[in-house]
Parts: sequence; structure tokens; C-alpha cells
Amino acid sequence: MSEQKAKHRAMAETDEQTNPSDALVFFGATGDLAYKKIFPALQSMIRKGRLNIPVIGVAKSGWSVEQLRERAHASLEEHGGGADEEAFSHLAKLLRYIDGDYLDPSTFVRLREAMGEAERPIHYLAIPPSLFPTVIEALENSGCSRHARIIVEKPFGRDLKTARELNRTLHSVFPEQTIFRIDHYLGKDPVENLLVFRFANTFLEPIWNRTYVESIQITMAEDFGVAGRGKFYDETGAIRDVLQNHLLQVVSLLGLEPPSAMYTEALRDEKAKLMRSIRPVELDNLVRGQFRGYRKEVGVAAGSQVETYAAVRLEIDSWRWAGVPWLIRAGKSLPVTATEVLVRLKQPPLSRMTDGNNSIRLRLGPDFSINMGARIKKQGAEMASVPVELSFMEALGPNNEAEAYDQLLTNAIKGDPSLFVREDTVEAQWAAVQHILHDPRPVNLYKPGTWGPSKAKKLAAGIGGWHDPSA
Ligand code: BG6
Repeated sequence: MSEQKAKHRAMAETDEQTNPSDALVFFGATGDLAYKKIFPALQSMIRKGRLNIPVIGVAKSGWSVEQLRERAHASLEEHGGGADEEAFSHLAKLLRYIDGDYLDPSTFVRLREAMGEAERPIHYLAIPPSLFPTVIEALENSGCSRHARIIVEKPFGRDLKTARELNRTLHSVFPEQTIFRIDHYLGKDPVENLLVFRFANTFLEPIWNRTYVESIQITMAEDFGVAGRGKFYDETGAIRDVLQNHLLQVVSLLGLEPPSAMYTEALRDEKAKLMRSIRPVELDNLVRGQFRGYRKEVGVAAGSQVETYAAVRLEIDSWRWAGVPWLIRAGKSLPVTATEVLVRLKQPPLSRMTDGNNSIRLRLGPDFSINMGARIKKQGAEMASVPVELSFMEALGPNNEAEAYDQLLTNAIKGDPSLFVREDTVEAQWAAVQHILHDPRPVNLYKPGTWGPSKAKKLAAGIGGWHDPSA
């Protein structure tokens, strides 16, 4: 690149970072993601006065803008907690629609026209990743990528190699500062709270390390199966679906070092450093399960070996965490729906008084709570103790998921990348699970409504066993 060109690109990048986007274009407007997540998020943004730019849907469905409006309305009824007629009428005014094939250059010429005066669009690729190269190239050829940002959804690749390829494809047109990789867990308040709780409370930092922490575990349990997504799920499995992304993000927020306040990328630098410090998990530290009946789901192969449950034990190679076991498990058709972190602290030496329960329990969903496990004196003459929990609890709104997407889209439009996953981090996440993506051992079957295969117990042996978030 010539010096002149590099200078222009750097100037453009600065602009792209600081100016808000002035049109939201979303590809896949008639699809599932738009129906379940994007329209509800748009309504939530409008209600808070956060959205006042043209919203241009693109898809190939032979629809009119009127049909897209109807679809948006149905989406709000079904997934947005009901359509708020005032917000909806505002959304209907902002909404435009381009119907066309992504392979046809004229689709993008019409898109450029529909963008009108807009000079800094943000393009949301709510489409299968196999279409990304086509769309990205067409965005460039039509001039729609100038001063633009781009949002992409998970799954970000299938492994380290494909994630790198995807990064290359995106970078062929979009500089890293303009790429917003969504992991919706990062838009959730209880997840964002992990940073605040850790770094705003003086009492925590002195004990948040290998000297005082015995183990950390994270459970993401869902009491439902694959809910009609059999085909997608059978190509994905629990490791790729939630462990590599949502749960490693939670690990990084629990484990990272305090970021500097001096520059914007500081937090993402710390995240990347933490992710790179995770020792790649080996097969010995993995147990995969599949609930009985999964193979009968529509779209699932008869002899499928895909896991609906995965449990791993990992280690972080850092000064703070050396030697501390981290246990992570995620599964479908478990006894409850709950995502919870349990930090077990080391015991003080007076065992008569302190028999267990030194812990911090952070509930991330479906409700939010922080619970400090402690022991207090048992009432009565005897000098004995009982376990108690000191708790803070907060109900989360019924529309928690839309709120998370609202938060993420609002930030992306503003150009604030802090809640999005950077290139190096996503690659480090894949590197951490790379050795367990192809487990030759048969999957362990478990009964729906139970805590997964009993083999997983061995991962938590010697450190108090798995914590049951329903207890
Ligand atoms: C998605 C996964 O990313 O996250 C789903 O594809 C999973 O399988 C979902 O159910 C869980 O998200 P939440 O916000 O309901 O915890």
C-alpha cells in the first residue's frame, strides 16, 4: 500500500470509529434471526429513542416492503413481548426493503440507491457464512462498503482454520476496527456485570487469584432440547454452539486482568491475553453427552455422534490462575434452565467452624443474583456453624434477549467495539478447543432431565463435585 493510500485509510478508519452509522442494512431480512432477534431489538431501541436511521432489509423472497412490515409486526408479537404500536409505526416508517439475489449486482445498485443520503452504513450479515464472500465483494463493487461497518453473527467459523479464512474474507474489504462480531452473551447485563463486580469492589480483588480460589465452575443448563433446530444443531454440537463462544467469554471476564483506562482497546487486549493463556483442552479433560431421543429430532442424522452436552476442565496459564481448575459444562435437556458461576474459595484451617461453603455464586440467567456463601454461628449453646448465603437479586426483564441485542446494535451503530469479539480473541477461542472438536470416542447417552453423563463426575472429582444450580 502506498504511503498516501495508507494515510487515507488511517483517516478513514478514525472516522469510521468515531462517527455513528447513518443507515442500518440487514441481509437476511426475511429469515429466522431477523424474526427472532433483530425486529424485537429494533423495537426496544426505538422505545429508548436509540434508533432514528433508515433500516433497510435485504433478502430474496419476492416480498414487498409491506410484507416485511407485516413480518416485523408478527415478530414483535411473538418474540418482542408484543408490538408497541407507537414504536412499531416509527419502525414501519424507517423500514425499507430490497428484494434481490445476492449474486446479482443490480441488487446492490438498488441498495446503494435505497441508502439515499447515507454515507456511513452499517451492514448486518444475518445470513449463512457461506454467503459472506459474495455479499462482501458485492458491497465493495457497489460502493456500499465505503465508510461502512459490518456486523457478523456466530458461528464464526467451525474451527481455527475456517475462522482465519473468514477473518481474511472480511479483511479483504473491511478493516478490523469496522468489524463487529456478535456474541450475544456480551450484551447481557449479568455478564457485563462481571467486570463491574470484579473491579468496582475493593474486597474482591485481594482474594480473586490462585492463593484464595480453589476452583471455578460454570454451568449453562437448558431444560429444553434442540427446539426445532435439529439440522443446525447436528452440524454444530454443544462445543461449537455455546462453549467456544458464550462460555469462554464468561471465562475471560472472570479471569482477565484489570484493563487500563487510558485507551479504548485496553479491555479487548486483556481479553485476548486471557484467551491466549487458556491451555488447549485435551480429550482427557472432555466428556461429551447426548440426550436420549435426540436422534429422532427432525434434521438429526440417525446415528448422530454430535454432543448435546459437553463438560471440560481447563487451566489458565497465568500468574493469577496457575493451578486453579476451571470446570465448564453446557447441555440441552438438563433438569433446569440456568447459567451460573460458582467460585469456591479455599477453606480456612479451623475445620470445626468452617466446614465448606466459602464461595461466591453468580447467577447469570434466567435471573440475576450474586450470592456470597458464608458460615455463621448456629443459634444455641453449641459452638457450631451453619451455612448461609448473603444475596443480592434482581429480576431481569421478560425481554432480556432483545435487550442484549438492543445493547449490541446500539453500540455497533455508535462505533463502540468494546462488547464485540476481536479477530485475535475469536481465533484464541478456537485454539483453546481445537483438540476437542474431533472426539473419536462415542458420545455418552443420558436421560433427558438429568445432569448429563455420569462420566462427567470424574472431571470434578477432588474439588467438591459439580455444583447444581437448581439446588
Ligand atoms: C445460542 C445457542 O447462541 O444461545 C442456543 O445457539 C442457546 O443453542 C442460546 O440456546 C442460549 O442463549 P440464552 O441467551 O437463552 O442463554
